[in-house]
Amino acid sequence: MKYTPHNVLTSEQPIPIGDIESLTEAEHAAVSASLDSTNMAFYQTDMPRVTEDSIERLATQFGITEYEHTSKKLTKIRRIEHSNNESARYIPFSNRQLGWHTDGYYHPVSQAIRSFILHCNKPAFLGGNSYFVDHETLYRVLLKNNPEYIERLCEANAMCIPENKRDGWTRDAVTGPIFHWDNQQLLMRYTERAKNIIWAKGLEAPLLEIRKMLQDKRYVKAIRFESGMGVICRNVIHRRDAFMNNKDTHRSLFRARFHDAIENQNLSRNKYALVK
Ligand SMILES: [Fe+2]
Repeated sequence: MKYTPHNVLTSEQPIPIGDIESLTEAEHAAVSASLDSTNMAFYQTDMPRVTEDSIERLATQFGITEYEHTSKKLTKIRRIEHSNNESARYIPFSNRQLGWHTDGYYHPVSQAIRSFILHCNKPAFLGGNSYFVDHETLYRVLLKNNPEYIERLCEANAMCIPENKRDGWTRDAVTGPIFHWDNQQLLMRYTERAKNIIWAKGLEAPLLEIRKMLQDKRYVKAIRFESGMGVICRNVIHRRDAFMNNKDTHRSLFRARFHDAIENQNLSRNKYALVK
C-alpha cells in the first residue's frame, strides 16, 4: 500500500506494460491472470501517446471487439471529461461523484455490457479517485453466507428501470435480475442510484448486505489513475469520487464498453470451489 501525493490510499499496483497496442506474452499472461482471479486488471503504460486506436488494439488482444450499441448509435471509444455542454447533465461527464454501478445496468440482459476499458490520459487536479469491487466475490460470499439472498437477487424481476422519455426519445422499461450467469461469466446489473429504480419486494436485506460489502475494505480496490494507467475488466462494480480540474490539469479518460466477454484463460477452474 502507498499514499499518492494527494493522500489517497491506493491498494493496487498496476501491471507495467510497454506498448498497449502490442503486449508481450508475459504482459498478456499477467493481465489474463489478474482477470481470471479478480475479473479486472490494472495496468500502467509509459507510451508517450495513447490514442483511441491504441485502446481498440488493446481490446482486440483480449478478444473484445463488439462495442456498445444502443438503438440510436454505435459508440466506440468515448472521452470521459468534465463537459460544460449538454452531456454534463449525465454524471460521467460532470465532475460530480459517481456512485457504485455496473456499466449498462439499464440495458436488457440481451444487451448486457460484459467488459469495459478505462484509460487515463490525464488525472484531475484534485480527486477523481476510482474504486472497484469484483462482483463475483460479492456473489460467492453471499452464496456461502446468505444463499436465500442470491436466490432473490437472481430473480428475473429483481430490478426495473421504468420507461424514460426525454427529448422526443423513449427508452422502454427494462426489467431483469441483479445477478445472472451468462455462459461462464457472472453479470451484475446494479446502481446505487435511488431515483427511477424499482426493486422487487423482499430485496431490502440483500441490498443492504451488498451496500455493507461495498464499504468493506477487504473487497474494495482503490486506485488513483495517473496518466497512462487504466483498467480492463469484466464489468465489475465501480465508483468514482468527485474531482476538480484547474486551468492546466483537465481530467481525461478514454472509455470503451463491449457486449462481448473477455475469454477466461483458465476455463477448467471451478469458480464455485473458490467460495471462501
Ligand atoms: Fe461506469
